[in-house]
Amino acid sequence: MIQIAIDGPSGAGKSSLARRLAGELGFLYVDTGALYRAIGLYMMRAGVEMTDPAQVLPQLKKLQLELRYIDGAQHVFLNGEDVSEEIRREPVSMAASKVSAHQGVRDFLTETQREIARKNNVLMDGRDIGTVILPDAQIKIFLTASAEERARRRTLELQQKGQKVDYEEVLEDIRRRDYDDSHRAAAPLRQAEDAVLVDTTGDDFETVFQKLCALIRGRLA
Ligand code: DC
Repeated sequence: MIQIAIDGPSGAGKSSLARRLAGELGFLYVDTGALYRAIGLYMMRAGVEMTDPAQVLPQLKKLQLELRYIDGAQHVFLNGEDVSEEIRREPVSMAASKVSAHQGVRDFLTETQREIARKNNVLMDGRDIGTVILPDAQIKIFLTASAEERARRRTLELQQKGQKVDYEEVLEDIRRRDYDDSHRAAAPLRQAEDAVLVDTTGDDFETVFQKLCALIRGRLA
């Protein structure tokens, strides 16, 4: 099986690029952030203090997560409920960032992610795919862009979905999440040594897409 890992900070364009690249290659696209988001949503609903592992970890026993592919799109099911839409809300982003800092939460999701990659050619995006989940991935890409550019893209994306958002707030959230994601003790966000760094600041989607296509095809040839 072929494994392609795409890691990087939030809002770098990973998911839209990875989805389209996977379609182009005929690989399964796995958005691992959705799994952390579903856990964040569950903990929000349960009303637990998300920074406290003693409150978060016992809850995992009650939680069943499943990724299903419907018409080619990934859906995440939380105890049988399709929460794919709800997990995109901003409060859930913050919750996901907090719960993802606990090693127990990461361990809970490790096997789910590896199992998918054992059975399919995958293009998996996340924060620790190249470093922890699939260290032997044939291709590793670390995709990034400046915080301001990522905030602009995220604001636009949320506005297009009809959500009321403020650029400054989105920027602050992105900065806080960048800091939390890269400073946590458990699997912090960092570039794998054998990953190719791609900075998308100032580039439009099509340019980056073509660049990544060429890179992947070159490596797979
Ligand atoms: O990619 P995203 O914005 O949907 O991710 C939501 C949160 O989940 C993000 O703050 C970091 C965390 N995450 C992680 O720790 N490891 C991953 N492989 C994917 C996401």
